[in-house]
Parts: sequence; structure tokens; C-alpha cells
Amino acid sequence: MKKVLVDKKGRKYLWDKGDLHTSLGIVKERSIKKGRKAKSHLKKEFLIYPASFTDKLRKIKRGPAIMLPKDVGAIIAYTGIDKESVVLDAGVGSGVLSSNLANVVKKVISYEKNKEFLKIAKKNFEFLNQKNISLKEKDIYKKIDEKNLDLITLDLAEPWRVLKSAEKALKEGGFLVCYLPNVTQVIKLVEETKQFHFIKEKIIELIEREWDVEDLKARPKSQIIGHTGFLCFLRRF
Ligand SMILES: C[S@@+](CC[C@H](N)C(=O)[O-])C[C@H]1O[C@@H](n2cnc3c(N)ncnc32)[C@H](O)[C@@H]1O
Repeated sequence: MKKVLVDKKGRKYLWDKGDLHTSLGIVKERSIKKGRKAKSHLKKEFLIYPASFTDKLRKIKRGPAIMLPKDVGAIIAYTGIDKESVVLDAGVGSGVLSSNLANVVKKVISYEKNKEFLKIAKKNFEFLNQKNISLKEKDIYKKIDEKNLDLITLDLAEPWRVLKSAEKALKEGGFLVCYLPNVTQVIKLVEETKQFHFIKEKIIELIEREWDVEDLKARPKSQIIGHTGFLCFLRRF
């Protein structure tokens, strides 16, 4: 079982097997297996707990920019996908969105056109032991093979090129969610949807502000996550 070790400064280390080498010294495998606390050979203390999906996700290999939890969470909450849902995600990149979706739905079909990113995503899905993701080397601008989908998510530059095939591939009432960094892309997308059976449900930008709380210090962190992207929720009717 994978475990997380946390040092005094809150730094986290993911442990799988063997002795753990940290910047605060080596922690022996037998002491990690034994309890909730362990000390390194430099007598530095670590707190220990079993690793969750999100702990493991932090350790995946990175290719292109990944989607952040604030945006992933909104997709899951606003579309209401559940363990019966079948969803399509493109492009996969490092696979962060696909993995998060796979955690809550029945099946994820993931398209990626870049061979190098495909390899990274495949490794990441194996590392996370996710068996309900069907990874395909495909250019979504050309075609969508699947039908009757509950949700299609697009994290790529020209989502309007997918509108025609998404209309055919989605169930009535299904969602198309496009993640776009620029408002100029959002404007083009909204304009193009007018030719198809899509209702513009919601366009949002989420700002997350983390705080430092320690003794008398209680204020927003000086470095925050700035703009990531706009989320456009379109509904097939
Ligand atoms: C920003 S990354 C996606 C990151 C991903 N959402 C995540 O959370 O890890 C965009 C990906 O889309 C892929 N891509 C771009 N156009 C595509 C297309 N037409 N079909 C399939 N994949 C495409 C790129 O190769 C790249 O890997």
C-alpha cells in the first residue's frame, strides 16, 4: 500500500516500497510500515497516512499543462456525472482530467493525437491503476466514433471544430464542456454553437485563493494561482 509521509514543514513524500530518501534523511521501510510516525536517520520526524487517489495524482509524469482541481471539480459538480456515465475527454495530455473523471464515472474514452503525450498518459493511468479508461490515438477534429455519450470535455485550442461531431455523439441533455484560456476563443465558440443543437448553459472563470494560517499570520498566500482558463458548459438539446 502506498503511503504519504509529511515532514514538519508540511512537505509530502509518496512512498511505495523500500527505504525513503528525503531531504531530511533516510526513513527505513520497516518504520514506515509500522506506524503513524517515523524518524529519519537524521532524527527528523514524519507523520504517515495511506495515500489517496489525489496523493498519487500529484506524483504523475507531466507533459503539457494540466487541469487544476478547481476546474475539474466544477466540471464534475455542474454536469452531475455519476457511476453510470460514459464520457469522452480530448486531448488527454498528461491525463489529469481523464483520471479525475474516471474516478467518478463508469467509463472514460480519451483521445490524444500526440504520440509522446499518449505514452505519458498511458503510464500515468497504469500508475493510478485505472482500468475504466480507454486511451485512443486519435485526432478529435477528424471524427468521434462513440455515440450516446453523457459528457464530452475538450481541452484543446479549437473546440468549434468538434461541434458537429459532438452533436451526433452526445445524448440529448448531455454536456459539452470546453476549457479555454482566452476569451477570444470563448467568443468564437459561442458564436459557432448557434448553428448546432447546443444551449449555452454557463461560462465561468474560477479563482482560488489559498490562505496561510500560522499563529498570528492569517492572510492570503502571497503567490496565488492566477488565471487558468474559462469553462464553457454547453448542453445538447
Ligand atoms: C493542455 S493538454 C490537456 C491536459 C489535460 N486536460 C490534463 O488535465 O492533463 C492539451 C492536449 O490536447 C492534445 N490535442 C490537441 N489537439 C488535439 C486533437 N485535435 N485531437 C486530440 N488531441 C489533441 C494535445 O496534444 C495536448 O496533449
